[in-house]
Amino acid sequence: MLAGNWRHGSLADGTPYGFTCPAPPRYRHQWYWDSCFHAIVWRHFQPERAREELRTLMRGGRLDGFIPHTIFWHDRAGWRRAPFYATHSLRGNRGTAHIQTPLLALAWELVAARSPDDPGFRGEALDALRLHYDWLGRHRDPDGDGLISIIHPDESGLDDSPKYDPVFGWMSHYLPGYFWLVERSRRLRYDSRAIIARYDEHIEDVLVNVFYALSLRSLGRLTGDETYRLRALRTERALVELCWDEERGLFWDLAGAEQTPLRVSTWSSLAPLALPSLPEAIARRLIEEHLLHADRYRAPYGIPSVSMEEPSFQAGWHLFRCWRGPSWINTVWLLVPALRRFGYSDDADRIVASCIELVERHGFREYYNPLNGEGLAARRFGWSTLLVDLLGGEGGGADVPADGPFVGSVRDELRAMGAEAAGETARRLNRRAAAAAAAARRLRPG
Ligand code: GLC
Repeated sequence: MLAGNWRHGSLADGTPYGFTCPAPPRYRHQWYWDSCFHAIVWRHFQPERAREELRTLMRGGRLDGFIPHTIFWHDRAGWRRAPFYATHSLRGNRGTAHIQTPLLALAWELVAARSPDDPGFRGEALDALRLHYDWLGRHRDPDGDGLISIIHPDESGLDDSPKYDPVFGWMSHYLPGYFWLVERSRRLRYDSRAIIARYDEHIEDVLVNVFYALSLRSLGRLTGDETYRLRALRTERALVELCWDEERGLFWDLAGAEQTPLRVSTWSSLAPLALPSLPEAIARRLIEEHLLHADRYRAPYGIPSVSMEEPSFQAGWHLFRCWRGPSWINTVWLLVPALRRFGYSDDADRIVASCIELVERHGFREYYNPLNGEGLAARRFGWSTLLVDLLGGEGGGADVPADGPFVGSVRDELRAMGAEAAGETARRLNRRAAAAAAAARRLRPG
C-alpha cells in the first residue's frame, strides 16, 4: 500500500523528490509528521525509501531551519483548499509557512539504525537537523520555558481536537473562521514571535512537546552534542512542572500568555508516557486511572483520541472532524510501548490485537470507531501501517509490488463519504427512535 502511495520525480529546476502521499486522492501532498511515520515503517522493508522520504522532507525546508507542515511537490494545492492552507500567498508556494509536530530527528535516528547499506545517512544532515531544532527553539519558545508553542490548531496534527475549542472558538480548524486565522498570520508574514506577542491564541501543546523532547534526545545522540540532551530534559521537566495536574492525574496544554490549562482529556494528556524521564508514579496514574479505565480510554478498539467520558467525545464519522474520539494508529504506536515498559503487557497485546482486527476487517483506514470498530474516512491511509512497527518481527526485503501508483478517484471518495455520513445519520436516528420508544414505555400507564 505504501508503494502504491509513493510519488517521485523532480521539479523543473532538477530538485528530486520521493515521498508517500498519506492517502490519494484526499491527501496528495507531503505532510511533515505523516512522512516521519511513513519512514519509520518503510525502514523495515525498504530503508532506501525511508531515507528518501526524510531527505525529501528536509529538502522542502528553508535554509534557516524551518520545515513546512505540508509541501506541494508534484501537485499544487487545489483551488478549493488553497485558501485554507497556511501559505504566504494563494498561489505558487511550494509549502505552507506553518509547522507540524516536529519528530524528524526521532525518525532520522530510527531510520539510520536500519541503514547498514548507507552508513553515511546517519551523519549527512546533522547541520540541517540542528538548524531545524534551533529554529523551533528560537521562534516557538519566546517565554524560554522549554515548551514550544503552536499558533494554529493543525500545527500539532490534531486539527479539530476539542481541547482547542475554547482557544480558537469561531476560528477553529473545522469552521470557516479558520480562514481568518490563516489570513492574519499571513499578514504578519508568519513571524511566530510577532504573532505570539500580538494574539493570545497560541498553545504550549503537550503532544507537540513530547515529540519535540524525544527528537531533541535523538539529536543529542546523533550529534554527540550534550546541549540537545539538556534541552530535551528541560522540556520534559517543564511538562511535569507546568502541565501536570496532580489532582486530575493528567497533563494539560497551556494556552496564551497566562498559560491557562486546557482541561479536556485527550490522548495528548497521556502522551508524556512516552518520555523516558517520566516519574513512575505519574506514569502509573496515567495508565491506571485513564488509559486502562473502562469509562475513559479502555475501548474495544484501539485507544480513543478523546476520553469517552468527555462531553465532546464523538466515536463516529463527522465531516471535517476527526480528532474528537476515533482511534488512530499513531496513538497506539506512541502509547503501547510505554504500557509494556511499565509491565502492562497483556493490555498492550489486547490493544494491538484489536488494531490487527481493525485492519483485517477494514484495511488501513485513516481512523476507526473505537466502540464498534468501523473503519472511517480516508482509505489506504499511510501512517496506519505503523501497526507493523508494533508487531515486533523483523521486516526486510518484502516484495514491493511493481504495479503503478495508486491514484484513486474523487468520485469513489465522495461515494464513500456519503455512505459514512448516511450510516452515521441512520445510527443517530435509530438511537433517537430507541430513546423515544423507551420514554413512551415509561409513560404507558401500568
Ligand atoms: C489530517 C490529520 C493530520 C494529517 C493530515 C494528512 O489533516 O488531522 O494530522 O497530517 O490529515 O494525513
